Amino acid sequence: MASVMLCGTEKLALLSTRTPYANGFGFTGSDLHGKSFPKLSFTATARVPNSRRTMVVPRCSVSASRPSSQPRFIQHKEEAFWFYRFLSIVYDHVINPGHWTEDMRDDALEPADLSNRNMIVVDVGGGTGFTTLGIVKHVDAKNVTILDQSPHQLAKAKQKEPLKECKIIEGDAEDLPFRTDYADRYVSAGSIEYWPDPQRGIKEAYRVLKIGGKACLIGPVYPTFWLSRFFADVWMLFPKEEEYIEWFEKAGFKDVQLKRIGPKWYRGVRRHGLIMGCSVTGVKPASGDSPLQLGPKQEDVKEPVKPFVFFLRFLLGVLAASWFVLVPIYMWLKDQIVPKSQPI
Ligand SMILES: C[S@@+](CC[C@H](N)C(=O)[O-])C[C@H]1O[C@@H](n2cnc3c(N)ncnc32)[C@H](O)[C@@H]1O
Repeated sequence: MASVMLCGTEKLALLSTRTPYANGFGFTGSDLHGKSFPKLSFTATARVPNSRRTMVVPRCSVSASRPSSQPRFIQHKEEAFWFYRFLSIVYDHVINPGHWTEDMRDDALEPADLSNRNMIVVDVGGGTGFTTLGIVKHVDAKNVTILDQSPHQLAKAKQKEPLKECKIIEGDAEDLPFRTDYADRYVSAGSIEYWPDPQRGIKEAYRVLKIGGKACLIGPVYPTFWLSRFFADVWMLFPKEEEYIEWFEKAGFKDVQLKRIGPKWYRGVRRHGLIMGCSVTGVKPASGDSPLQLGPKQEDVKEPVKPFVFFLRFLLGVLAASWFVLVPIYMWLKDQIVPKSQPI
């Protein structure tokens, strides 16, 4: 269960019940169906009492690969590898401007509390280093490790001058090559949607952090508009906000908070889902591994690949992803046309 607070027009925090009080303007209900903010009911109280102001948290998978009811063709390591084999060529220039701007990145990293240049930071699924560029504004690059399963994405990161001193390694978010209690901060932006077992990845985030360390996971949110929902389900994992919170809490994190992010020109509209839609943070309260016990990893990447099925899945996933190239263009046009005083 979680209570909710709003801090700023596009900033919303879902606080776990273990977070005692929220500062700022609270509201009594989260629009978890992803409609625009004007539908939220605001209250003027500065504190959210530790009370019955809660929301229903539906059950979500604890540690399971894709359910067959939701194909999510690219929520799979092999397919994500090939997806980024090609997308890496245009990623920084075509994908980020529509979904993941520098403003959004800085907004999303703010709860990570990168307050000391000597902090040890891991950027998991760091790709071309776009988020790492935000991290090294606050932390010395030599203390930052970028990990990704795609050598093609990492090749782009290696070319960036401010990242020259970062450690850059290939690896799997669900099986991190860092020792337990290693880092002060764990950051992962826009990668969870490809992990077959997101709970396992978040459990790994917990393991590699030092006591008092903080994880900051930035990811998509599930659409409510039926067509966007259809394409999201065909493409990859778009978790619900309450799923993020449940995964963090199950992994053992305390003070779990969720802040909404989105491109400015969406004016807070969330019905299409957002590929970078929220920044979730949690603090590791004790040293050692996560209290959550999981069975062995289902290593789908090692399973024999049937070329035709693989190609078909890949093609369908890529077609579905194309919808989310059109949505930001449509929202941008709407923002230009509809007067600022009216909702879009
Ligand atoms: C949308 S990109 C995000 C890149 C970067 N974090 C950014 O902010 O621009 C997603 C990245 O996650 C990586 N990825 C997907 N599954 C992964 C896994 N299981 N382990 C590590 N990286 C993974 C992809 O290769 C890709 O580079």
